[in-house]
Amino acid sequence: MDEILRVEHLSKYFVKKQVFGSKHSTVRAADDVSFSVRRGEIFVLAGESGSGKSTIVKLILKSVKPDSGKIFYEGQIIDDKKRNTDKIRMNCQMIHQDPYDSINPRMTVMGIVSEPLEIHKFGNKEERLKRVMQVLHEVKLEPAEEIIKKYPHMLSGGQRQRVVLARALALKPKVILADEPVSMLDVSIRAEMLELMQELQKKHSISFVYITHDLATARYFGQRIGILYMGKIVEIGPVDQVLLTPKHPYTQALIDAISEPDPENLHRERKIRINTPTDEGIYHGCRFRARCPYVIEKCIKEPDLEMVNSEHFTACHVKLD
Ligand SMILES: Nc1ncnc2c1ncn2[C@@H]1O[C@H](COP(=O)(O)OP(=O)(O)OP(=O)(O)O)[C@@H](O)[C@H]1O
Ligand SMILES: [Mg+2]
Repeated sequence: MDEILRVEHLSKYFVKKQVFGSKHSTVRAADDVSFSVRRGEIFVLAGESGSGKSTIVKLILKSVKPDSGKIFYEGQIIDDKKRNTDKIRMNCQMIHQDPYDSINPRMTVMGIVSEPLEIHKFGNKEERLKRVMQVLHEVKLEPAEEIIKKYPHMLSGGQRQRVVLARALALKPKVILADEPVSMLDVSIRAEMLELMQELQKKHSISFVYITHDLATARYFGQRIGILYMGKIVEIGPVDQVLLTPKHPYTQALIDAISEPDPENLHRERKIRINTPTDEGIYHGCRFRARCPYVIEKCIKEPDLEMVNSEHFTACHVKLD
């Protein structure tokens, strides 16, 4: 197995002060998270809002310091030494959900896409312009000669997200961490953007960590998937296996909630989405047990990820068919 990125036992707890009173509560945004991404693979991290998806990406890119755990890039541990953080930031690029989070509205497309090239001292001015034109063609922003002069507000939402993709591709990264990259786009252009990412992924053999709460795009885009629940991976495996034969009751509940366009499901989805980890007791034992229809006595003890088959693992004491 040729793996490019691996995280091992990554944890990050945040202490939150309650709005009223002096009480504090701890949120386990990432709790002993381990997974690996192979070269050229699309690995999906899926989970509801607040499950810790963005925190994991920030931990990988070293913009948030982990409480514990290790990150490996191409087999080498990435510690806090500058040369290591530079290496991961150069080779692993990020796409945010909201283009305005990563692009400066006062910069032209040329400035936005060439910025990472300047930061990492890529070539001279002429070579940078050449590279910018090249990536604009790759993301199908045409005519590129016109587009480079434009400001973000002069572009459509879809075009802006292509600029973000172009910026992420500029340094020829080996990994792209895409945090809900299409969720803010119109449904009509979502598929186009996903197709474009897929095309580029194949062409350059880029690995993706694709973050989403949407299992439909996860299935369309991904090869393997990790299901996150309150900071913990509760199920992991090939996308088709996990989504067609889910073994964790939480994965099943997520799938049930979206499987049919029934108004009743909206209510059910909302029920699953409510997630206020203010009660510390929630972290003792299986954290899904309060909502789990299959709960048994043993669930007071936290389940470990156990093998379903060589590639599929689930953390549940109840052995579902
Ligand atoms: N800097 C921070 N300080 C305190 N709590 C934080 C911080 N960042 C994240 N959290 C908390 O950690 C948990 C996980 O947050 P995170 O943003 O990683 O979730 P997410 O899965 O990306 O959610 P969403 O789908 O809404 O983007 C949440 O409860 C969040 O409130
Ligand atoms: Mg997020």
